[in-house]
Amino acid sequence: MTLPSEPRPAPAIAGDVEFRIRENEEQARWDRLFRNGKPVEIEIGCGKGRFLINSAIVNPDINYIGIERALRYFRMMKERVVRRELANVRLLRDDAVYFVERFIPDEAVSAYHVYFPDPWPKKRHRKRRLFNPGFLDEVVRTLPMGGTLDFATDYVEYYEEIRVLLDMSDRLVRLAEIPERVRELGSDLTNFETKYAAEGRAIHRGAYVKS
Ligand SMILES: C[S@@+](CC[C@H](N)C(=O)[O-])C[C@H]1O[C@@H](n2cnc3c(N)ncnc32)[C@H](O)[C@@H]1O
Repeated sequence: MTLPSEPRPAPAIAGDVEFRIRENEEQARWDRLFRNGKPVEIEIGCGKGRFLINSAIVNPDINYIGIERALRYFRMMKERVVRRELANVRLLRDDAVYFVERFIPDEAVSAYHVYFPDPWPKKRHRKRRLFNPGFLDEVVRTLPMGGTLDFATDYVEYYEEIRVLLDMSDRLVRLAEIPERVRELGSDLTNFETKYAAEGRAIHRGAYVKS
């Protein structure tokens, strides 16, 4: 794809919270999106936004981008973010993979959070899974040294697949513990975590750092 020679504006902000992307725009500029230079963390597939919102409240010096493609969840999350007037949150309703690949500059994301990604249990649907070698290359490209990837799933077969993929990377090192700013939020981090824990399902977590 050829980029335009004239500089174009960063993704437009619709209201203060939601932003949209258009194919012919240049890469995202966090300073324009947030109007400050604080570090940016991204949650992919935030559902109703519990983790994102609680994190943004506890960590006002971190900027959060929540990406959720399902309209119903997105609207609920946006309504909650607006009601709480969270200045450090921006939301995108789009495909997170496309956004990361096409719009995020190298080393621009301090942390990725992916909680309960759709497991696509049917064999013929597995290629739809978020975690695959191409996506992990993008995660590595967009994290700086010391940047983290934190994930959880109740689906053990998917968890093992993610572990194998991550352990194959020579740039990602598994952390013995999940990062403090995630741990301090408590045990029920997301709506799906609460639901699955109540059903007695085991939750599998992992955290990696770029080295
Ligand atoms: C099982 S739900 C988990 C929601 C939330 N993280 C939680 O734990 O409560 C997975 C969510 O990821 C969203 N999702 C899946 N793939 C996505 C993608 N490529 N881009 C944006 N959202 C995605 C789905 O729409 C869905 O809301």
